[in-house]
Order: sequence, then C-alpha cells, then structure tokens
Amino acid sequence: MLWIPGPTEVRPELLAECARPAIGHRSADMRELIERVDPHLPWAFGLDTGSDAHVGVHSTSASGLMEASLRGVGARVLAVVNGAFSRRFFQMAELLGKDVERLDVAWGAGVEPDELAARLERDGPFDAVTLVANETSTGVRTPLAGLTEVLAAHGRPMFLVDVVSLIAGAPVDFDAHAVDFAFAGVQKALALPPGIAVCCASQRYMAGARAIERGSWALDPVRIIEGHAARKTPATPCTPLYYGLARQLEDISAGVTLPAGADAAPGAAAWDARFARHERMRSRTAAWAASHGLAPFPQERFASPTVSCVAAGSLDTAAFVAGLAERGFSISNGYGDLKGRTFRIGHMGDHTEEALEELLAAADAVLAGLSQRA
Ligand SMILES: Cc1ncc(COP(=O)(O)O)c(C=O)c1O
Repeated sequence: MLWIPGPTEVRPELLAECARPAIGHRSADMRELIERVDPHLPWAFGLDTGSDAHVGVHSTSASGLMEASLRGVGARVLAVVNGAFSRRFFQMAELLGKDVERLDVAWGAGVEPDELAARLERDGPFDAVTLVANETSTGVRTPLAGLTEVLAAHGRPMFLVDVVSLIAGAPVDFDAHAVDFAFAGVQKALALPPGIAVCCASQRYMAGARAIERGSWALDPVRIIEGHAARKTPATPCTPLYYGLARQLEDISAGVTLPAGADAAPGAAAWDARFARHERMRSRTAAWAASHGLAPFPQERFASPTVSCVAAGSLDTAAFVAGLAERGFSISNGYGDLKGRTFRIGHMGDHTEEALEELLAAADAVLAGLSQRA
C-alpha cells in the first residue's frame, strides 16, 4: 500500500472511472464532464462565495502548471525556497529568463512575514512571489496568513502558490489569502492517478497575463483557463482522468470519502471534515514518532497535515523503509540531501485512520526487529 507522499492509493471506484472508454474531446460528453468538475473546484481552492477567480484543469503534471503560472507574470520574481520543490520553482523561473531572486529559508521552516517584508523592502518591487504552501520534501506547511498583508503593503506582486500536496488535504483559502495563481496535481490528497492538474487564477492575474507575451502555446495560462471556461481544452485532454476527477470531487463534496458515521453536511462541511481527518492523521503520526523517541523534522507549527517528515536520528532509514516494504507498506526515505536523515509518511487522500494504525503497527514491528539486530 502506498504511504509515500504521492502518488497515493486510489480507490477502486476511481480506478473504474478511469477505465471508461475514450470520448471525443469536442463532444457533448466532454462538455458534460468538465461541467461536473466545475462546481466542486471552488471548494478545493477555498473560494469565497461570489468569487471572481477562474478555475481550470490541464493535462500535464503539476510542474507544467508551475511553469504556466510563471509565464503569466512580469520579469522580476522573488522565489521563496525552503525545500526541493520551491527550489524547482526558482530554477524554472531562471530557465524562463526571469530576473529571479531567491529568498532562502531553512529547510524545516516556512517563511516568516517579517522575513518576507524585509526582503521586499530591500529588493522590491517584484512582479511576482513564488511559494510552495506544502513542501513535500520536508513536510513543511507554510501558513499563508500574514504573508498576504505583507504582499499588499509592498506593491502587491502576483502571489503564485504551489498547493500540490495541500489541496483536498487542508484548506487553501485562495481568496482570503489573496492568492493570484494556485495549482496542484491530482495524485496527492486528491488521490487519483497522476497526469492532470488543476489551477485557479485571480482576475488580476488573468488581466496581467493577457497583457504580456507569454511565450508558450501548450503551457499558456490564459489559453488553459479560457479553454476550460469555454469547455474547449486547448489540446486533447486525458479524458480517463477527467472521469476520475469528476467522481472524486463529487464524492468528496457528498462526504462519501469520510469515515463511516461522520456527520458532515454535503458541501463545505464535507471538505472541512476531510481536512480534519488529515490533521488527525498528522497528530497521530507525530504521537507515534514521539513514542519511539523520534521528532518531526519541521518545526512543530509548520508540520504538514498531509506529509509527516520525521527526523531519523540514529535510525537506518533505508532498512526501515525496506522492512516496511516487505510487509506491504511503501513509505519514503528523505528527499535529496535529507535521504538517510529523515523518512516521510504520506497520510493523504483517501487513507483512513484505521489503515494508518495498521501502518504504524507494522512500523512498530520493523523498529523492534531493527533494534534487536543492533
Ligand atoms: C510540492 C510539489 N510541487 C510540485 C511537484 C511536482 O509535481 P509533478 O511531479 O506532478 O509535476 C511535487 C511533486 O511531488 C510536489 O510535491
């Protein structure tokens, strides 16, 4: 069973949706499929009632929309880097020829509002600021509250936010945090096979993007969002995944993915209950780690609700990961430089708390075996 930080386990019902026969993408069936998705994306992105933001779906992995987001903004970019994926955002901006600066934050922490303010003060104005709201490489969630005010006080650069491993696992609150472009793949807490990505853009972002040369056809954010609104995807979409996405969003909104007996009304309350389950899984995993003398790698207030990154101490992470794999549970070693120093458990998507107990019990047994060997 996949407990890595994405892709994660996919429910059989969703796999069955993805096995539906192909349809013509200029057909009424395709229009209908897009229209099934649309009512639910505002909950996923946490839009205010009456929001004028635009949602979209594109057949690419999340990195494609990371690139698209940058194509719609001006040259001066400040990239907040606190892990491997936020570094990718920075590198992509560089490759696209942006005049990009990097605000490095310790891996294991999120950027503080006053740190961001100081940098904007010193080196601004910027056209855009990039941020990864949930760094899958370190298990760090950066709270957006507090950053919004700082950006507003410094010329309001476009706020481009990667919510890849956050969406459907925790609130995004796009409007409340004045985000301008947010994007995510579907293989994390949306618990679908990888291959398509979802996004949301503010009116302001769209107006700014329309006014500049974006230099791409397939990853043009305006073409992607306008095509979605017109129910005409720019190119042939991955229709099997659209079926999966439509069904998953409908199920989440209806509360179908909640634990048996959960009492949440369909709609926003069902999404909130899903978020609460992720938070409980984070807390349970932290308690389990503490019972073995292990501590979360991130500073506590930044601990992600979808990915627990645990500091390994003297534990042999490769042996631990291998021991769990032998028992049928797949978790991840640390990412990049953190390999051997941390391990990661992705308790996201449709994983249940009961299943988490099974994983943790297996982890107990593997740890016991390793300590006997030592
Ligand atoms: C936070 C974050 N951003 C971006 C990506 C890249 O996503 P993809 O591999 O779907 O392009 C990932 C993948 O794990 C991620 O975790």
